[in-house]
Amino acid sequence: MKIKKSDNKPEKEAPRNINNNIETKSEIPRNDKNINLLFLICIIGVSLGIALEIINVQNRQQTKDKLKIRNYWVYSAHNDVDNKNGLLKHVHLVLERLDYTKTSNDSDWSLLWSHDYPFRVLNKAVTNLKPTQKVNHFPGTGFITNKVHLATSTSRYIPKAFELPKNKKEFLRYAKENREALFLEKHNQHRGVYLKNVSEIDLNSGESFVQEYMAKPFLVDGHKFDIGVYVALTSVDPLRVYWYKGDVLFRYCPSKYHPFDPKNLDKYVISDDYLPTWEVPSLAHPYTALGFGMKGAFDHYAQSKGLNTESMWEEIQKAITEVFIKNENHIIEALKRYKSSDNFFEMMRFDFIVDEQLKVYLLEANMSPNLSSAHFPPNQMLYEQILYNLFSLTGVASSIRDISNNTVQNMLSSQKNIAVYSKQCSTVCKETCEAISVCALCKPCLTPQLKKALLKAHMENLHKGDFRRLFPPTMQQNKDIQMVEEETKHLNQKKQDAILMVPRKV
Ligand SMILES: *[C@@H]1O[C@H](CO)[C@@H](O)[C@H](O)[C@H]1NC(C)=O
Ligand SMILES: *[C@@H]1O[C@H](CO)[C@@H](O)[C@H](O)[C@H]1NC(C)=O
Ligand SMILES: *[C@@H]1O[C@H](CO)[C@@H](O)[C@H](O)[C@H]1NC(C)=O
Ligand SMILES: *[C@@H]1O[C@H](CO)[C@@H](O)[C@H](O)[C@H]1NC(C)=O
Repeated sequence: MKIKKSDNKPEKEAPRNINNNIETKSEIPRNDKNINLLFLICIIGVSLGIALEIINVQNRQQTKDKLKIRNYWVYSAHNDVDNKNGLLKHVHLVLERLDYTKTSNDSDWSLLWSHDYPFRVLNKAVTNLKPTQKVNHFPGTGFITNKVHLATSTSRYIPKAFELPKNKKEFLRYAKENREALFLEKHNQHRGVYLKNVSEIDLNSGESFVQEYMAKPFLVDGHKFDIGVYVALTSVDPLRVYWYKGDVLFRYCPSKYHPFDPKNLDKYVISDDYLPTWEVPSLAHPYTALGFGMKGAFDHYAQSKGLNTESMWEEIQKAITEVFIKNENHIIEALKRYKSSDNFFEMMRFDFIVDEQLKVYLLEANMSPNLSSAHFPPNQMLYEQILYNLFSLTGVASSIRDISNNTVQNMLSSQKNIAVYSKQCSTVCKETCEAISVCALCKPCLTPQLKKALLKAHMENLHKGDFRRLFPPTMQQNKDIQMVEEETKHLNQKKQDAILMVPRKV
């Protein structure tokens, strides 16, 4: 009884109680010793209980915190990417602002940011990913970013290119038919680029390729430039590609183009020591004084010369889209080795040049565009905005951790958000889901995979920030279906289906 009573007493009162007891029972010393011992045990018990409870509460808090912590790790075989002030400085900064913690490869991680293509070197780490893990590359995108593969694919946006010595005959025939043509000799590994005419090119020098040189570039204040467009791939099969319209990287050649001299690379090749927008005289005003971006400053200049940049930007979007449509099958094939394609996303930079009429030429697609502002500090904002928007689009930035709960899923994106074509769904599609292609989108016909893809597309649309979807193109909700089918007739059946599977409510 006594023990129980003191057990319930507040800690503070316990010592006084002991004293009281000692006084009242002072005549019986032997008993007193026992009672003393008893109360000592009581105190220890009470203190222990309190201590254990404190530890318990702390543990519970820690488990809760642990659920909240998201880890990322970075990888590159050749660059010191762990350095928070190095090549990936802005990746680290943006992720830390999103409450991510940098960790190593063997602990629990939510995001792998790999500077290198990870699917061979990190094979073990990127197979059997958990649904909550994301990797910043897609397997198979090398078909897009490989210089030779991209340059030698036929497209009206890509200057003619030949692999040497493999396509020597075709090259010589083409050079004969186009006597004025100059060629850039490139190597897939090294960055060396040299402008030559056909008689100067060593046709048997080993693995290289030559690409026709676009000799009449549009110049800004006499400087040639290239245009780097940031692109995000979030899904294949069905394909979803976005471009970052927030700004675009313009890089100008340090020397004026005229008088032209093939020996002076500073006149026509973009290197790390390019001339930034704010140092080009005519662009400094719109960029610095008026606060426009690189894209805005260029548009301002070109429009002042009477040129229409809107159609140039449309052509750029078409060129990017074409590359993905042409290479989607390669990525689908490479993905077959992986459990789910939901773990992957990719951000690339597509480099273009334009001629005097602003006709667009695609030169290359970079798998891991350099996001270091070490050389040009003002680029920090561009890179961080791109990363922030990319993480938003792909869900990396989402503060909701547990998406397994249905109620939570519906809050993010539900059937109502993807329901379309009420008229067709209530008439022609009622009998059979095969009546017309859009029937596949009616709730009773939706396959679980398609529903999942549509919900993900809808979620991306909600969080796209300054990214804009290139493919599938967005359409008016009530656009006549026959018109849509007419417009997409030139695509193969699969692509047409993908277009029709777009949630129209965008
Ligand atoms: C982590 O990296 C180390 C060193 O690079 C490597 O030996 C190890 O196998 C990696 N672990 C995982 C799980 O990938
Ligand atoms: C190629 O360039 C060399 C040296 O620059 C020149 O001598 C030669 O005439 C040029 N050939 C053609 C076909 O333009
Ligand atoms: C990236 O850009 C920075 C600054 O321009 C440069 O110093 C660095 O060498 C580049 N790194 C790579 C891997 O291209
Ligand atoms: C999902 O979360 C809600 C509260 O947000 C809760 O009432 C419900 O029981 C949860 N459902 C499951 C299946 O855990």
